[in-house]
Amino acid sequence: MAEARAPGKAILFGEHAVVYGHPAVAVAIEAGVNVAVSNNKEWAVEGRPLDSVRHPHLKSIISRMRRGSGPFSFQISSTLFSAAGQGSSAALSVAAHLALRSHIGESSNLIDAARSAHLAEAYAQSGRASPTDTATSALGGCVVVSSSLPPMAKHVFGSELETSEGLRTWDVGTIELPIDSDPPYLVLGFTGNPSKTGKMVAMVADLISSNSERKSDLDSIGEITAVGLVALASAEWEAVGMAMDACHDRLEALNLSTPFLEKLISSVRPYSLGSKLTGAGGGGCMMALTRDPERVAQMIELHGARAMISSFYNEGAQILI
Ligand code: MEV
Repeated sequence: MAEARAPGKAILFGEHAVVYGHPAVAVAIEAGVNVAVSNNKEWAVEGRPLDSVRHPHLKSIISRMRRGSGPFSFQISSTLFSAAGQGSSAALSVAAHLALRSHIGESSNLIDAARSAHLAEAYAQSGRASPTDTATSALGGCVVVSSSLPPMAKHVFGSELETSEGLRTWDVGTIELPIDSDPPYLVLGFTGNPSKTGKMVAMVADLISSNSERKSDLDSIGEITAVGLVALASAEWEAVGMAMDACHDRLEALNLSTPFLEKLISSVRPYSLGSKLTGAGGGGCMMALTRDPERVAQMIELHGARAMISSFYNEGAQILI
């Protein structure tokens, strides 16, 4: 048997715009997904035959294994909210890749895991996915993804994907925070309404093809992200929060917010440095950057959502056994 763990993620700025090559910045959160792999008579998930419609990510990860490997059984346990913008499918894919490779004794590393998981996300999202969620889950810490990385990011690997809008290329890098930066906390609020990333990404693609003005919202997100990144690299947390707020306004203009997300976001603003929807939108999660995580979590729960507090900097994926 082998087991691996991969964390979820929270996007500070740049979701959706990153699909078009603009920069995005994401951090690994404390919660994550564990995947255990063991020998079995047939491919199975949680004791039931693997259904590739229900588990497109696993199907894609398995397709890149050495021919003749398996069949194996997967046991999955997660502390993430599912279909909530926390990168649960990316974490599942990264952990499944690492656990499978470890089980068959094939060497692999975090970059291979991130690449394989990105292909799994693209397969499940009808061909449109950036490497943001998968790279953050694999590498941990703070990750920047962009068609060209800013100078403060340390380049880790390059990534490309053939999409219906042509070939997309990204560079993936990491950002180190100053040692004494004393980061605030992240608090995520789950609306309880699951959201499908593929559907939301397709909705944005339709919106910008039918209304070219909306494309300027994606360009603005790119500009806000660049400013937020400078603030982040110098640990200017007030400015990071302001960039998060500004990013949310553009996401709302792209019809990605909902009345419930708006209610949660405005309720935590007095206790936060910044707050926004995070991930695909249309439901899922909002997040706040705050020095008062208990108060923010309380506000989120008072409004009927589920809160999760996370420290800011967390490790990436690891093989456990
Ligand atoms: C989803 O967590 C982030 C999106 O930008 C999609 C992607 O990057 O693939 C909405």
